[in-house]
Amino acid sequence: MLLLFTQLFLSLLIVTTKSQSSICRTSCGDISIKYPFGIDDGCGSPFYRNILSCSESKKLELQTASGRYEVHNISYADPHIVVTDPFMWKCQDGENFRPTRPFSLDTSTNLKLSSQNEYMFFNCSEEHVIIQPRPMFCEHFPEHCESSCDTASYLCRHLPRCSFALTHSSCCSYYPKSSESLRLMLKYCTSYTSVYWRDVGSLQPYDQLPEYGIRVDFNIPVTTSCLGCQDPLKGGGTCGFDTVTQSFMCLCKDGNSSTHCKDQDIARHNRKVHVIAGTVTVFSAAGAFGIGAGIWYLKKVRAKAPATCGVQSNDNRLF
Ligand SMILES: *[C@@H]1O[C@H](CO)[C@@H](O)[C@H](O)[C@H]1NC(C)=O
Ligand SMILES: *[C@@H]1O[C@H](CO)[C@@H](O)[C@H](O)[C@H]1NC(C)=O
Ligand SMILES: *[C@@H]1O[C@H](CO)[C@@H](O)[C@H](O)[C@H]1NC(C)=O
Repeated sequence: MLLLFTQLFLSLLIVTTKSQSSICRTSCGDISIKYPFGIDDGCGSPFYRNILSCSESKKLELQTASGRYEVHNISYADPHIVVTDPFMWKCQDGENFRPTRPFSLDTSTNLKLSSQNEYMFFNCSEEHVIIQPRPMFCEHFPEHCESSCDTASYLCRHLPRCSFALTHSSCCSYYPKSSESLRLMLKYCTSYTSVYWRDVGSLQPYDQLPEYGIRVDFNIPVTTSCLGCQDPLKGGGTCGFDTVTQSFMCLCKDGNSSTHCKDQDIARHNRKVHVIAGTVTVFSAAGAFGIGAGIWYLKKVRAKAPATCGVQSNDNRLF
């Protein structure tokens, strides 16, 4: 009985992928592409349609309102994407700041800037940007002090992976609450960069390391139709959608189904029975966990704050 259960459980973790690979590519370069993403139209969840693309040179790119960004990694267990922006400051730039552009995400997608990002702004105009919180002011208006750009921050004093410190230009770290505040900050600062705290799995407090890049969180929408479609006992299909109606579709080797691959409807003409192919690959435990984790949608919502925080205005000017 126990053996039977173990087998049943193991088979649940197994998904046939080989047969669908012609419909939906499962990787781009060395980055694995799984539900809810797809790089072929009709694959994955329609919520993430047309946001990822795989270039000819096998580079995965994320399309957002502000441009195309190279994707460095996707984690499905702790759902997030890491992208980089070539216009952001990096060590090699030193104090030769290049023109930059503010990063932004479309508000219509299910992607969210992670609160694990920190931003460093360089050479900001002290007249326009709140740089040093003043104790008296902060006592009275703590909500404004929270949003000042911190020159004494750890990251400014220890520029990640740089062997030098900035000597002529100022650096301060600040978390822009919206792309509007980021845009405003860049009006008064020459350049900026984003750093995210990467989990490295060591013991606290050394379990996170700062790395250049932008961490973008996503949700894994879990639906019973998709779980049924992926279920190996029901044929182990790939979740996708109809490119015209965007309604759910289970992509199977013998055709598509609105439910799952073992549904009577599909294989009706195609009787060249392939039996359960020998080409099974193990669905990683992390992937299975990812789907489970997605049921409790990741909610890391930062408190809404006025878009102009960080930049001095008549409301928060320091006298
Ligand atoms: C990509 O993410 C996976 C899972 O989080 C991690 O194991 C791997 O080290 C990451 N790769 C890089 C290049 O960061
Ligand atoms: C710093 O900013 C000022 C304007 O606020 C600008 O004139 C100057 O060129 C900037 N310095 C560098 C090194 O870009
Ligand atoms: C199944 O769906 C995919 C994605 O929408 C499409 O590319 C493919 O042509 C469909 N296959 C059949 C047999 O309808």
